[in-house]
Amino acid sequence: MKCVLWLLLFLSWTSSLFAVEVLTPALRTVVKKDALYLVFKGPVDSKVLVKKGVGAVFIRKDSLAGVYVFHYLLKLRRGENLFFIDPGGERLKIFYKHSSPVFYSYHRKGREKECLPCHNRDFVPSRCVACHRFEKDTAVYLHGPFYRKRCFSCHEREYQKGKRFFVLGSSDFDLCMRCHTAPLVWQDMLYQHGPFGARSCTPCHDPHQAKYRFLLKNEPRLEVCLVCHRKKAEDLVRSGYKVHPIVSAKGCTVCHDPHASDYPKQLYDKPYNVCVGCHPKFKGRKRGHPVVAHPIVGVYIPGTRKKLTCSSCHDPHGSVYDSLLYASKAGNRICIWCHKY
Ligand code: HEC
Ligand code: HEC
Ligand code: HEC
Ligand code: HEC
Ligand code: HEC
Ligand code: HEC
Ligand code: HEC
Ligand code: HEC
Ligand code: HEC
Ligand code: HEC
Repeated sequence: MKCVLWLLLFLSWTSSLFAVEVLTPALRTVVKKDALYLVFKGPVDSKVLVKKGVGAVFIRKDSLAGVYVFHYLLKLRRGENLFFIDPGGERLKIFYKHSSPVFYSYHRKGREKECLPCHNRDFVPSRCVACHRFEKDTAVYLHGPFYRKRCFSCHEREYQKGKRFFVLGSSDFDLCMRCHTAPLVWQDMLYQHGPFGARSCTPCHDPHQAKYRFLLKNEPRLEVCLVCHRKKAEDLVRSGYKVHPIVSAKGCTVCHDPHASDYPKQLYDKPYNVCVGCHPKFKGRKRGHPVVAHPIVGVYIPGTRKKLTCSSCHDPHGSVYDSLLYASKAGNRICIWCHKY
């Protein structure tokens, strides 16, 4: 019994002597990105142990008046992540949620105090990039103002409560409009794409740098659209599903504008015109397909208020039936689809 007490006393003494103090992030926190810096003070042989998470990359160890300051980069996976600092037992619990209204923010008044002995106090962009090392390995396209380190053309000079990433303006749209005029034109069009209508640009564009042209975050043919359009993504890999060859070859934006247009579903033109642009043998033809004298455009589908056009019979994305039809040709099912014989 006695020796257990002694042991406890000894342990509490040693842990206060070699106390670990985490400077950033908060011990329990929520973030929206897959990597986060960990800076802590601790004894010379401190280590970070990963219990749940992708990894903890050691960056550097510096001594400051006899205390060691450690820099790590924590690599996170979706959901809960757990890291332990050994010795000291400090336990970090970090939730990585893709969409979360509240998340950890380092730049709050007072927090920088601990960093200033080693990091420059001047609030200048060169100082920003000393800490924010934006990985360059995959990025090929750099956004002009970012490349020129004009951080303050988009970010507030100081942390502002409630401001997402303390970005200037009340929305992405507002921010981007400071330099780009194209969104003004798109805003006046009749049909606006969901995210653009919600004034957000960053689901598709990276404001700093990207691997793909137009600063796109994802592969621009399909992935940039399929990240949200999951139903379409599932279709494309469904067994027996025949994809319209042009969808796999050129992607979604050969027919749809990613921002806005004057035609329904943000098509570049009326469906008939979109189709005949690539299938010229139908150009100018209003009748005679798929069977003799059959109308193609300009008439209403029986029993509906929808006008007949190419995409009334063909799914422009793909189908499990031949010729991208909405129903099988066998037993005239495609005909019965409209004609209740
Ligand atoms: C002393 C190091 C340091 C300096 C200098 C620094 N940052 Fe940060 N910044 C951080 C850390 C740490 C985080 C928290 C996120 C992380 O760990 O990756 C962060 C987060 C951010 C975020 C995300 C929003 C937030 O509040 O978490 C933005 C935006 C940002 N910094 C911009 C800047 C800009 C602009 C400058 C230059 C004026 C700057 N930072 C200078 C360390 C620094
Ligand atoms: C004991 C000195 C010291 C203290 C205290 C310190 N740092 Fe650092 N930190 C450094 C040095 C030195 C570098 C390397 C700078 C360089 O290469 O330009 C660095 C680099 C960084 C980097 C870039 C890491 C990378 O990916 O290369 C970040 C982020 C950072 N510090 C954040 C912080 C934050 C946040 C604090 C305060 C909570 C802090 N540091 C406190 C010394 C310190
Ligand atoms: C401070 C001015 C400024 C702001 C704010 C700004 N941009 Fe830019 N952007 C530029 C400049 C300058 C270029 C042209 C040079 C280049 O390609 O980097 C550019 C280029 C682009 C391009 C590539 C265009 C092409 O034809 O290749 C895209 C996409 C883009 N910006 C999107 C955005 C988005 C999205 C935002 C808002 C999050 C934004 N920009 C905010 C200045 C700005
Ligand atoms: C063209 C505008 C623009 C410029 C220039 C810009 N940023 Fe940003 N930055 C943004 C926007 C918008 C976000 C929010 C991104 C989001 O919502 O995903 C952001 C987010 C961030 C974040 C948090 C997310 C992350 O990627 O870690 C950091 C840190 C950051 N910026 C630092 C900087 C630094 C440092 C500079 C200067 C070298 C800079 N930014 C220049 C627009 C800009
Ligand atoms: C749904 C994804 C998505 C959203 C949201 C989005 N864009 Fe784009 N953007 C694209 C794609 C894809 C391109 C590539 C060109 C194309 O296919 O038309 C592009 C191209 C651009 C270009 C360069 C080419 C051009 O047409 O001028 C600019 C500038 C641009 N976007 C700005 C913005 C701004 C500003 C916003 C927010 C108001 C925004 N985008 C929202 C997907 C998007
Ligand atoms: C950030 C998520 C997101 C991304 C990325 C995205 N979309 Fe959308 N899309 C939406 C939302 C939200 C709607 C609106 C859904 C609604 O109103 O029912 C929508 C609607 C549409 C519509 C109209 C659907 C209808 O029934 O009216 C089309 C067409 C479309 N998107 C095509 C695209 C294309 C092409 C891309 C790639 C350039 C793309 N989307 C990328 C979220 C996204
Ligand atoms: C060959 C031209 C073409 C291509 C390529 C194309 N679409 Fe479409 N899309 C259309 C047409 C035409 C419609 C309207 C169909 C109708 O209403 O009859 C449409 C409708 C839609 C709709 C709303 C109705 C529905 O089917 O859910 C969404 C969402 C959509 N497309 C997303 C996408 C995505 C995502 C891609 C890329 C994988 C894509 N489209 C590629 C022509 C195309
Ligand atoms: C950007 C060019 C392009 C556009 C726009 C386009 N297509 Fe296609 N389509 C092709 C190519 C390429 C093929 C494959 C070669 C072929 O059969 O001509 C194809 C094939 C087809 C096929 C035959 C598929 C099969 O399995 O036999 C049909 C049906 C079709 N397209 C219908 C349409 C319809 C309906 C539209 C309008 C919504 C449309 N296409 C718009 C390029 C396009
Ligand atoms: C009333 C329904 C209907 C309409 C409207 C329609 N199609 Fe078809 N299409 C069919 C059927 C059914 C087939 C299969 C014919 C067969 O295999 O005998 C077909 C076959 C095709 C084919 C592949 C065979 C070929 O002739 O090359 C293409 C390409 C095609 N259609 C494109 C179009 C285009 C482009 C439009 C609009 C200008 C259009 N279709 C309008 C029902 C329609
Ligand atoms: C998307 C709906 C749709 C499909 C599928 C469809 N039709 Fe039609 N069909 C129409 C419309 C609309 C008319 C014109 C009706 C009117 O004018 O009242 C029409 C008219 C006709 C006519 C009368 C032509 C004339 O001279 O006016 C025949 C015959 C016909 N369809 C046969 C077929 C056959 C065979 C198929 C299957 C290969 C088929 N249809 C598939 C919509 C469709």
